[in-house]
Amino acid sequence: MLKTEESPIQAAVRALHTARRVVVATGAGMSRESGIPTFREALTGLWARYDPEELATEAAFRRHPARVFGWYAWRRRLVRAAVPHAGYHALVSLEGLVSELAIVTQNVDGLHRRVGSRRVLELHGSLDRFSCVDARHPFPADRAPEPEADTECEPPRCERCGSPVRPDVVWFGEMLAAGVTAEAWDLAASCRAMLVVGTSGLVQPAAQLPFIARDAGATVIEVNPEPTEISGVAHIVCRGPAGAVLPALVAALSQGATK
Ligand code: OAD
Repeated sequence: MLKTEESPIQAAVRALHTARRVVVATGAGMSRESGIPTFREALTGLWARYDPEELATEAAFRRHPARVFGWYAWRRRLVRAAVPHAGYHALVSLEGLVSELAIVTQNVDGLHRRVGSRRVLELHGSLDRFSCVDARHPFPADRAPEPEADTECEPPRCERCGSPVRPDVVWFGEMLAAGVTAEAWDLAASCRAMLVVGTSGLVQPAAQLPFIARDAGATVIEVNPEPTEISGVAHIVCRGPAGAVLPALVAALSQGATK
C-alpha cells in the first residue's frame, strides 16, 4: 500500500481521504499517555501482587468480592484523574474530515465519550455502569462506593435480588453484548479504512476486527509504538504513540497532504 518514498502518514492520509466509512479500533494503549496503565502493565501498590487476568473474572469476584471491587474502584479513580490527550481530540476532528466515522473500543474508561466522539461502541462495557452479579440487574452508579484510599472495598448489594454488585464490564470468559458486537462486526466488514490504535491484538474476539476489515478489502492502518499481532495484517504501520501520530495524521489529512 505504501508508494515509493511515501511516509506511513502520507499513505494513511491517502487511504483515509478516499474512504467513505472509517472505523477506528482502539485498545488500552490509546489511554496510556493519559496516565491510565495498559492492561498488561505491572500493577502498582496494593495491586502489584495480583495478575490482572486473575482479577478480571467472575470467579475471582465471587471468591474475593472486596478485592475485585476495590481494584475497579482504583481504576475508576485513575480514569477520573486522566486528561484525554491530543490523540483523543484528533479523533473528534477526524469526524469532520470523513463521511462516516465510528470508534470501536476495548477500553472501559469512557474517554472517547468524554471528549465528545459521537459514535463510540464500547465492546468491553464501561466502568461507569454497574449491575448485580447474579441477574445483571442495573445498579445506579451514584450509589456505588468510591473509596478515597487504595483499598479493598465491599461491593453494595442489589436492591432487587441481594446479590453483590459488580462493574458492568466484560470479564475473561464472558460473552460480549450481542447488539454492540453485531454492529462492530458489520462496521468492520463494510468500512474502507480501519485505524487500529494501541491494541496488542491478543484479546479475542476484538482482535478479529482488523482481519475482518482486511478480508473485506479495507486498508488497515496500525498506530502503535511496538510490533503487535496486528502488524502483519496491517497495510500501513505508523510506529509511534497515539498522542503524537493521530494529531499528525489528522493535521495532514485536513491540509489535504495526499501526495
Ligand atoms: P494491551 O494492554 O494488551 O496492549 C496495549 C497495546 O498498547 C500494546 O500493543 C502497546 O504496545 C500499545 N501502546 C502502549 N503505549 C501506547 C501509546 N502511547 N500509543 C499507542 N499504543 C500504545 O491492551 P488491549 O489490546 O487493549 O479485556 O487489550 C486490553 C484488553 O485486555 C482489555 O480490554 C481487557 C484485557 O483483557 C477484558 O477485560 C475483556
